[in-house]
Amino acid sequence: MMIGDLFPITAHVDPEGYLWLGGCRADVLAREFGTPLYVFDEATLRERCRRYKAALAAHYPGPSQVAYASKAYLCLALVRLLAEEGLGLDVVSGGELYLARQAGFPLAAVHFHGNNKSAAELEMALDWGVGRIVVDNAHELALLERLAGERARPERSRRGRRLAIWLRLSPDIDLHTHTYNKTGLADSKFGFPLAEGLAEQALQAALASPHLELVGLHTHLGSQAFETEPFTAAVEALLAFAGEMGRKHGFRLQELSPGGGWGVPYHQDDPPAQIEEYVRAVSLATVEGCVRHGLPLPRLILEPGRSIVGPAGIALYTVGVRKTIPGVRTYVSVDGGMADNIRPALYGVRYTALAATKAHQPVEEVVTVVGKYCESGDWLIRDIRLPKLEPGDLLAMPVAGAYHLPMASNYNLALRPAVVWVKDGRARLVQRRESYEDLVARDAMSPLLEQTYTFGSI
Ligand SMILES: Cc1ncc(COP(=O)(O)O)c(C=O)c1O
Repeated sequence: MMIGDLFPITAHVDPEGYLWLGGCRADVLAREFGTPLYVFDEATLRERCRRYKAALAAHYPGPSQVAYASKAYLCLALVRLLAEEGLGLDVVSGGELYLARQAGFPLAAVHFHGNNKSAAELEMALDWGVGRIVVDNAHELALLERLAGERARPERSRRGRRLAIWLRLSPDIDLHTHTYNKTGLADSKFGFPLAEGLAEQALQAALASPHLELVGLHTHLGSQAFETEPFTAAVEALLAFAGEMGRKHGFRLQELSPGGGWGVPYHQDDPPAQIEEYVRAVSLATVEGCVRHGLPLPRLILEPGRSIVGPAGIALYTVGVRKTIPGVRTYVSVDGGMADNIRPALYGVRYTALAATKAHQPVEEVVTVVGKYCESGDWLIRDIRLPKLEPGDLLAMPVAGAYHLPMASNYNLALRPAVVWVKDGRARLVQRRESYEDLVARDAMSPLLEQTYTFGSI
């Protein structure tokens, strides 16, 4: 794999060595909008949505849906693009749900996940008509039963029908990825374990509910996986369970979701990960499993996040300080770092980068690219071979579209970066850079609250 393969589909380097994205020259974008700058290529975003849909249409004979996993990155512009592309949306918080609603997304196409949804978040989802609540645990099942029951009272009833839910199951399947990215193991905070009859108990409770309608089963094994086998094993585990529960309790599986988690290469040495290979494997496993377990084909819902937005995004940084420690290493500091991309520090992810204004210059040195924040762990790329970078040069890090901005922080009171979308030679600012005023906007000097009791009286 060449470094160029990691960039968006519209990217190219001109004969002078300048990087172009969506018909815009990267250094011009940097001058116009400042750095660190996150640039998304709209063509790549749409292409990846369409590849998922086309692959499902080609390989899965039943009904299907691609529901983008918001946690990978969300903003109003993206929600609108997803609606235009006909995708569903998976949200995990009141915040993500709020954003979807603000953007006018059809909330019936939203699935609400999360292992500790609050009553307020669930009420919000019920009031707004969210399509599916993915029930994660027994506490939530009971809470939802109560909330749906309250709404079923004639004076509060909105729709007069039962609330459609899925159960999230934990099949104890190991995804070969970073420990922090595994979610389908038995020892996990997510979902009802298939083992020990816990999933069966939940299913019986859901089936017995007068206010809930159990329509689907879900699992999510984790993220950044390159092998299809764990996903097909998960589909088989869920279908075997559905078959058994059908025979024992009359359960009818209408919807099946093996979650998301398909990986993307971040570095030339990473294996390729074709969307089509993953979709084909999961589709085939579902069809074959349904035959094996005597089930009609359910609606198949995939929840990709990273593999849609990751390769569409580029992080642009300006080079600042260089520091060479003879015999040890050369540090090149850029104007971002762990505040906008925590992934190298958190997961040890290996990234690569391109000198965006001197891409054709010969590789002259091996450097370590670090951020500007007050942690020694604030590094972005260790030991990368690059042309000699001087202060003011521009560095472009590809595959920056997923799990950077939503994990970004104000550490050291950094300002969260601006986000620009490019298409056909035009750039539009979809999220402005934070300002110093934003940093103090939440601070308040409220008057002292009057003490309502004295300690002596307790
Ligand atoms: C329930 C669920 N679905 C989908 C995803 C998306 O995963 P990815 O971005 O790896 O495709 C996640 C990520 O953690 C998830 O928790």
